[in-house]
Amino acid sequence: MLIRLNLNNTSRLINHLINLNLHKIEKNKSTMGWLSNSLNASIGKKLLMALTGLFLCTFLVIHLIGNFQLLKNDGGESFNLYAKFMTSNPLIKTTSYLLYASILAHAIWGILLAFYNKKARPQEYHTINNQSTWASRNMALLGTIILGFIAVHMADFWWEYHYEEVPMKAYASEFGRAIVVKDLYIEVMEAFKVKWIVIFYVASMAAISYHLQHGFQSAFQTFGLNHKKYTPFIHAFGFAFSVLVPAGFALIPLYVYFMH
Ligand code: HEM
Repeated sequence: MLIRLNLNNTSRLINHLINLNLHKIEKNKSTMGWLSNSLNASIGKKLLMALTGLFLCTFLVIHLIGNFQLLKNDGGESFNLYAKFMTSNPLIKTTSYLLYASILAHAIWGILLAFYNKKARPQEYHTINNQSTWASRNMALLGTIILGFIAVHMADFWWEYHYEEVPMKAYASEFGRAIVVKDLYIEVMEAFKVKWIVIFYVASMAAISYHLQHGFQSAFQTFGLNHKKYTPFIHAFGFAFSVLVPAGFALIPLYVYFMH
């Protein structure tokens, strides 16, 4: 009896609080509506940026490991066979379409977010928050430079491989039959003998490094992963990632230019 009475009282209290809140929400709806709508849209965009950003980071690691085959002293066999596998395996081909979509979504949403932030906060951010880094204030600029790099890079190697005439090369397979593949290795070697192409690649890797330095930790912040114990680790990992991965990419043209 006593328990039922208490339960009744508790549920009445909860109902009262809900009504009170609903009333408050209703009252604030007209003034807060536009704010919460734009805030939700902004959070949605940030989430999309974080998810596509981390997916692109995964691509970078796989692409770097593949490109390291260029450094092997085997006349390009490992790299050419790897390129053939990457462009003919149906699962990887399908993932490639997801990759192109992610690059476009990340770029378009990034630009929208930059415009939205500028409109919502016309005063320059660094005058308000002195702790912000140069990279964090220039994410849109860095992103645009990277998009330019990807466009030039794909118009060169990717386009050449898929749509232009590339010399063929034959390798012996385990079963004694010859595997004939496009000699993409020789195309990359020729490209990295040109000084301005090497400079362009190294400079673009610097832009990627700065972009990742802020982007990596910002993605984890968007996911709400803030923990006394793990956040310093995420920051350290993000910093190491954003320095080592672009440095690995920059090493390839430099190695080819100076060693070949
Ligand atoms: C030394 C540096 C690099 C070299 C030698 C290199 C080489 C190549 C080659 C040969 C291809 C065409 C073969 C293929 O379609 O799989 C390719 C494709 C591509 N690269 Fe790179 N790459 C480098 C750095 C980068 C970086 C830093 C990015 C991104 C920021 C990037 C993004 C791409 C993309 C998006 C494709 C198309 C991939 C696909 O079709 O699945 N590359 N790269």
